[in-house]
Amino acid sequence: MTSSLSGRRVLVTGAAGRIGSVTTRHLTELGALVTAFTNVQDDELKADRIVVGDTRSEQDVATALEGADAVVHLAALAHPGAGTPYDVYTINVVSTFNVLAQAGALGVERAVVASSINAFGVPFNPDDIRPAYYPLDEKIPSDVADWYSLSKQNDENTCRMAWRRWGIDVVAFRFPHVNTAEILQRQAEGYGEKPAGGVREGWAYLDTRDAAYAIELGLTATLSGAQTFFVAAGSTNAPYETEALLDAFAPGVPRLRRFTGREVPIDLTAARTVLGFSARHELDLPTNHLET
Ligand SMILES: NC(=O)c1ccc[n+]([C@@H]2O[C@H](COP(=O)([O-])OP(=O)(O)OC[C@H]3O[C@@H](n4cnc5c(N)ncnc54)[C@H](O)[C@@H]3O)[C@@H](O)[C@H]2O)c1
Repeated sequence: MTSSLSGRRVLVTGAAGRIGSVTTRHLTELGALVTAFTNVQDDELKADRIVVGDTRSEQDVATALEGADAVVHLAALAHPGAGTPYDVYTINVVSTFNVLAQAGALGVERAVVASSINAFGVPFNPDDIRPAYYPLDEKIPSDVADWYSLSKQNDENTCRMAWRRWGIDVVAFRFPHVNTAEILQRQAEGYGEKPAGGVREGWAYLDTRDAAYAIELGLTATLSGAQTFFVAAGSTNAPYETEALLDAFAPGVPRLRRFTGREVPIDLTAARTVLGFSARHELDLPTNHLET
């Protein structure tokens, strides 16, 4: 497999995490020289260089960035309950600022950053609200009422600032639930029983291998600026027609177009046209009749 990443040094933060470990392996297979940055010792982690440290530390990040041609920033507390509100917010926003500001000042040309579908705030909102419309897209209005979603919204602002200030091109991905096929399959079985739970995220999912593939394209695509992309599998992980799900669980929400079969109600046009991304790993689910 030849890749423009061959021989290039890529710093991956959060390299021992769910997405980071698969991304580190994928980029290494493409010939990249990966510097894996982690705050936890992990004997399974294999990379050209491993740096143990904290993404909030100026010195640790400076060490990790030595020789880097590009950066993949994934380190974060990845859920509102992953720490105290203070820790989730400050670890996420300080880490993203520290990594992008140092990479930008060093003249690193490209960064890929994990934002989240939660950057628009609705999925974790404690009020039982719905998105402003379907399909969700990068311009959807936000309604943020938790510290994790706020941190991701701020991370996207940090990406724009870093590009504006230092000219570093940044691709931010609004990932939906990313996991292994086995766990996504189990979630789909749960939605078979109780589909209402997925309405605010449009029952979207992404296989971890496809997250790594999207990151590869984020590093190699021809683009400039700081750009945010939704990425997801083309189908939902609920075994019902999308139109029937929206009729049942989001009846008052405008639909800007109709959906076919189990099509995910997220607009994936930008990722497809700018990055050339479409998911390679989709769940094979039946399309059942939805009883309401
Ligand atoms: N997995 C998902 O469903 C999902 C969905 C949307 C967005 N995201 C985002 O993608 C990124 C990766 O998520 P993941 O699922 O792999 O999470 P994860 O928790 O498995 O991995 C995150 C890694 O970051 C590390 N980390 C945390 N704080 C750190 C610090 N201060 N210094 C250095 N390392 C630190 C953790 O130890 C962990 O290994 C996160 O930014 C997350 O918010 C994930």
